[in-house]
Amino acid sequence: MKTVLITGASRGIGKALAQKFLSEGYFVIGTSTKGTSTISNENIITFQLDLANPESIKDCAEKILKLKKPIDILINNAAVILTEKDNDRNEINGDTLRKVINIDLVGTIDFTMQIVPIINPGGHIVNTSSRQGSFDYVFEIKNPSYQISKAGLNMFTRLLSFQLKDKITVSSVHPGAVLSGLAASDANMRPEEAALYIYQTAISNPKTGQFWFKGQPFPW
Ligand SMILES: NC(=O)c1ccc[n+]([C@@H]2O[C@H](COP(=O)([O-])OP(=O)(O)OC[C@H]3O[C@@H](n4cnc5c(N)ncnc54)[C@H](OP(=O)(O)O)[C@@H]3O)[C@@H](O)[C@H]2O)c1
Repeated sequence: MKTVLITGASRGIGKALAQKFLSEGYFVIGTSTKGTSTISNENIITFQLDLANPESIKDCAEKILKLKKPIDILINNAAVILTEKDNDRNEINGDTLRKVINIDLVGTIDFTMQIVPIINPGGHIVNTSSRQGSFDYVFEIKNPSYQISKAGLNMFTRLLSFQLKDKITVSSVHPGAVLSGLAASDANMRPEEAALYIYQTAISNPKTGQFWFKGQPFPW
């Protein structure tokens, strides 16, 4: 039985991903900030993880290591979107920037580097990015802290893909504009639909260090 580790598996796209992988016969290790899950299945175990907190990251990674279940796929899905909409011009706000980068970028990188040693050769790390992190998708200033953070996550994908070349594939994915907790105003995809595309990318063996949307290359 293959094993997938999905951060933020308690709701939205992460929960739909957990359900998809379970239906495909995977053992799922999920995380949520409370350590609870609403999925009832003998093949899922959920750990508490707060990506804002280095102690929580270390504690979660240690618990996962103790399971002695090598990971085939890691999906870094957990994130927060904090907007600067409280100021009309969407100006970058230092507090918002620090919070978002700390969770979505620094926490994700810290967690990933602690999990890499137990990822099987031939495995796949999928970083859930966003079109908002794409340099080609800047038409207006919208959630700048989140945009900067996801652009940084894309660079992490590229750098890690070089570091793990010929061992582990590393990808960024844009899930789509999804009707979930972080939904944009033009959101039109169900979490299950986004999860299906991410699942297909995750189980395929694509060229490492790329950015994908619905299985097609997406501009950085
Ligand atoms: N929805 C979209 O349209 C869209 C578009 C582009 C990219 N994305 C990306 O897709 C991913 C999933 O988005 P979503 O819309 O499904 O989000 P969501 O419904 O808001 O779910 C977020 C998940 O992240 C977890 N989480 C929140 N804060 C955390 C923290 N500090 N530490 C660890 N986990 C934390 C949550 O756990 P709790 O339940 O415990 O709070 C939850 O499981 C994100 O990376 C997002 O940036 C989404």
